[in-house]
Amino acid sequence: MTSLSGGLGAAGQGAAGLGPAGQGPAGQGAAGPASGGGTATARTAPEPLYGGKAGRRITVRDIAAAKGRGERWPMLTAYDALTAKVFDDAGIPVLLVGDSAAMVVYGHETTIPVTVDDLIPLTAAVVRATSRAMVVADLPFGSYQASAGAALATAARFLKEAGAQAVKLEGGDRVVRQVEDLVAAGIPVMGHLGLTPQSVNTLGGYRVQGRGEDGERLLHDAKALQAAGAFSVVLEAVPATLAARVTESLSIPTIGIGAGPGCDAQVLVWQDMAGLSPRVPKFVKKYADLAGALRAAVTEYAKDVVSGAFPSEEYSYR
Ligand code: KIV
Repeated sequence: MTSLSGGLGAAGQGAAGLGPAGQGPAGQGAAGPASGGGTATARTAPEPLYGGKAGRRITVRDIAAAKGRGERWPMLTAYDALTAKVFDDAGIPVLLVGDSAAMVVYGHETTIPVTVDDLIPLTAAVVRATSRAMVVADLPFGSYQASAGAALATAARFLKEAGAQAVKLEGGDRVVRQVEDLVAAGIPVMGHLGLTPQSVNTLGGYRVQGRGEDGERLLHDAKALQAAGAFSVVLEAVPATLAARVTESLSIPTIGIGAGPGCDAQVLVWQDMAGLSPRVPKFVKKYADLAGALRAAVTEYAKDVVSGAFPSEEYSYR
């Protein structure tokens, strides 16, 4: 099983007010002391989203600023504390607790069965283990489509119970009301267009989307999400030329997964890029062979147990 964000394969930013001291956007200088003595701090060079050292969480304002600078950045999925900490320490600025957890964590065939109650503990673990990355919670199938009220109730749970800083949902025009109401309520929203795995049954499989005339519809949907206040949009499994066109047409960043090099950011399911997923879609580059490394470690351990070589004195208490 692998994931195409749980798909092909697998498996307002607005003018934010001055926050508490030190919560200004990366590189824009911290806001003055809370006592407001009018002390302006010197402006420093902006920190890059990837590799910057801001001693606070990445915000939607940082992400908007990176688009303004023409900066590319990486995003990964995360579902547990230990790996999330590794990604956060490595400087990945945005972590998505994807509904791909349905496949890579819970072993389902598609993303459809995963529930809000399944994802909240995973999201909470990722938030607890990280200090810099923005943690985005994926709203699972059936938890937001019915109405803006349903979307708000679900998203509020991810923010209140898990500590997520933003949510992601799938669809264009058909979820504009949801996006508007979430943003109005103060919840940053990441859109998701192209191959939207929660719609696998109407798409008729995990197929490339947006070819031919469908490209115009996708561009329209991307603009609708931006107008509704989304701070970014994932483009999954769409032709590279279309993704580049959408990226040029938007003032919010596009995040590609199987959408070519023209996007502002890229995302992959971490088990796919690290070689843990047994099958991966064409667009996944494997940066490691974790399955092989783990298999070798497990085999050595098992042999040592059988032979009595483990635990030796070194690993025993006196
Ligand atoms: O659920 C997921 O993992 C995703 C992406 C990787 C975009 O939606």
